[in-house]
Amino acid sequence: MRVEGLELLDFRNYEQAVVELGEGPTLVMGRNAQGKTSLLEAVFCLSGLPSPRGPDQSLVRRGAERALLHGRVRRGERSVELDLEIREGKRRALINKTPVRSARSLTEVMVAVFFGPDELSLIKGSPEGRRRFLDELVVELRPGRGSLRREWDRVLRQKNALLRSAPRRGSEKTLKTLDVWDEALIKAGATLTGARLECLALLLPAARKRYGEIASEGRLDLSYQSAWLPQEVGDQAVSSGGVEESELRCHLELAISQARPRELERGTTLAGPQRDDVSVGVSSSQGRAVMDARTFGSQGEQRTAALALKAGEFDMVTEAMGEQPILLLDDVFSELDPLRRRWLGEAVAGMDQTIVTSAEPGAVEALGATAVLEVVDGSVRRV
Ligand SMILES: Nc1ncnc2c1ncn2[C@@H]1O[C@H](COP(=O)(O)OP(=O)(O)O)[C@@H](O)[C@H]1O
Ligand SMILES: [Mg+2]
Repeated sequence: MRVEGLELLDFRNYEQAVVELGEGPTLVMGRNAQGKTSLLEAVFCLSGLPSPRGPDQSLVRRGAERALLHGRVRRGERSVELDLEIREGKRRALINKTPVRSARSLTEVMVAVFFGPDELSLIKGSPEGRRRFLDELVVELRPGRGSLRREWDRVLRQKNALLRSAPRRGSEKTLKTLDVWDEALIKAGATLTGARLECLALLLPAARKRYGEIASEGRLDLSYQSAWLPQEVGDQAVSSGGVEESELRCHLELAISQARPRELERGTTLAGPQRDDVSVGVSSSQGRAVMDARTFGSQGEQRTAALALKAGEFDMVTEAMGEQPILLLDDVFSELDPLRRRWLGEAVAGMDQTIVTSAEPGAVEALGATAVLEVVDGSVRRV
């Protein structure tokens, strides 16, 4: 798939801009703080997911009331018009001029994979970043599941509010209400975890293959880490493609009932997928032991692992949709050594549409870019 026509109104530092984009690799050049990343961000937002860079309020141009994005997206023979309005932190979306219930529905038409300098935090950062990565993969894979994480967050918030205000031993009335929330939590938590495990099962072979390509030797491993789900159940689910939701419910129910006294004591929810993590392991060569990339990986291994996860995401979405997503690469060239640059150049050559930003002139050759755009102070021109 590709986005052909893009229009930005009051988005970041763009007052108004119209950009025509073609297939293959497009390079977006420009000095610092001109609007290169914002252009990629605009494409990404049209895919319905939250910006990788900041909250929706920060997307509206300073002094403006709302930001508007319009895109014409080509999928095979079809051309689809997408519109997104961001106003007071709220999103409204149109597909072919018809309002849709949630901006997330845009994901059904367009998927973009964003890779920027911050992506290293997938490896080095907190578990929340990895959970978000996984939960967004769930949506990209099956847009209908966009509500799973929201439903989980909603039930968790309600339960936490109750726990905060409850007496430490819990009155009879509190305990009854808590039972109701726990039941909802078990249901939402098992569904969310099931979807995460299914995704991880698809991501692992794809990311592992990409890791092998980039690193030429060494191996990547991914495993689901959870305090309530026995490790072997998670491992089995990842290697076999999934697990029965009823099994997940049993484990979660047990953990939640065991945690009840401590949860009342502490006034917060302790057991559940809100604390789970994905551990990323690497080994330097086939025979060596796999070690946690976050604590033991070299800077180079961590970078390769982050790149492999995103390339794996790309492959996984391609497989699921039967069409390639749009690849957005923000300022990655300066971070890569010659070997990884070459790999990226070769990988990008086979993709439907890649939009790459760089402040370096050398990127044109490395990429084999078919089009070059220059951004100066929120305006875009073809060079
Ligand atoms: N909501 C906003 N309103 C106006 N300007 C903004 C907004 N958000 C960011 N900017 C400005 O937009 C400019 C371009 O940012 P960015 O796209 O990150 O630049 P680049 O990637 O080219 O270095 C920066 O000067 C930034 O301060
Ligand atoms: Mg930038």
